[in-house]
Amino acid sequence: MSNNSVPESLRINPKRLKSDFEALAKIGSTGDGGVHRPALSPAHLAARDWLRERIAAAGLEWRQDGAGNLSAFLPCGPENGKTLLLGSHLDSVPYGGRFDGALGVLAALETLRVVQEAGPSLPFNLEAIDFTDEEGTLVGLLGSRTLAGKLDPGELQNPRGGRQALLEGLERAGLTEAGLLQARRNPETLAGYLELHIEQGPRLAQAGAEIGIVSAITGIVSYRLAFIGRADHAGTTPMADRLDAAQGASAFTLAARRSVMHDFPGCVANVGDMQFSPGAFNIVPARVDLSLEFRAPKVETLERLEISLLSQAQEIALENRLELGVEALGRHAPAPMSTGAQKAIAQACDRLGLKSMTLHSGAGHDAQSLADLYPAGMIFIPSTGGASHSPREFSAWHDCLNGANTLLQATLLMEG
Ligand code: GLV
Ligand code: MN
Ligand code: MN
Repeated sequence: MSNNSVPESLRINPKRLKSDFEALAKIGSTGDGGVHRPALSPAHLAARDWLRERIAAAGLEWRQDGAGNLSAFLPCGPENGKTLLLGSHLDSVPYGGRFDGALGVLAALETLRVVQEAGPSLPFNLEAIDFTDEEGTLVGLLGSRTLAGKLDPGELQNPRGGRQALLEGLERAGLTEAGLLQARRNPETLAGYLELHIEQGPRLAQAGAEIGIVSAITGIVSYRLAFIGRADHAGTTPMADRLDAAQGASAFTLAARRSVMHDFPGCVANVGDMQFSPGAFNIVPARVDLSLEFRAPKVETLERLEISLLSQAQEIALENRLELGVEALGRHAPAPMSTGAQKAIAQACDRLGLKSMTLHSGAGHDAQSLADLYPAGMIFIPSTGGASHSPREFSAWHDCLNGANTLLQATLLMEG
């Protein structure tokens, strides 16, 4: 380690981080501040090519596993010692923002570069990792669940984004289903996982806090529901005689919102897509396929919410003389973050003189795939206006720097 670089005084290089952030935001840019980099799309793979070059330019070793997870490795711990993962994801939701995931991957890489330059020896090696398909445009938390050995092969047959999109993405990326299932890493070799992320909500700004220490990550369940009726002439069929699938889908959407707001405080439900078939002005809709996702912070609440929403869908289908098709498409359990990681993040904030608060995450994150295997922790920074999954997503640059320095310091404070 160079003379004056005691770990407490180490800081990330703001110019280098900013120049990386700006370069990455151009890949898949939508021209309105956002990016369109769905998992394994050409833009996402271009972002990965760019990251691979940045890792090599830093003189770090890069690695890619069977799930496409791309990482930089720094041997700064004992030989054959454990590895602390730092990371996030380069994929985005369709037409999303440029901070979600990208900031965490770049801050992780920057942390490795700073440690490499200063040369402290740590109780573990470091690895900055970009997880595949965090956002669930294909499967959801795909890279982190493969790494954790939690991916059910059956899920690949009917994933959230459709089987065809998954197969096309894998082929584009040179990946295979067999490779995905072999990407598990022995938990004994990993010391933990830390991630910096934007909050994606308004709570830190409202509380005047600079850093969020995540206590737990929400559970997420997704379904495709089909309301099935009958196609008829939209001009000649009396209203009372119609088996109109749109009525069922719409009534369910309204009922879901009402019931979550009244009966499930702290939970959310979203109908994010509806496909009408045949889908014409003059045909009564025969079928509506609806994408439903709901979230709750605790397993018991998630289960109650699931039973409630599915039975409401059934009742509404009956009332409208429709059939109901139900396909379960994804399930991520709520995950508490480790107390050790939370402590390291709190100490990092003390070292940096940053005001922190503890909060739970309503967004899903790769940390929830790993949290029951080794200590996992997440650092949030304020999101202006709380906006995310939108080109309006924004965080002030000084908050991004605070977050990156907190990640660096928390890394140095983690126990081996
Ligand atoms: C991922 O960001 C999610 O919460 O859907
Ligand atoms: Mn994210
Ligand atoms: Mn996201």
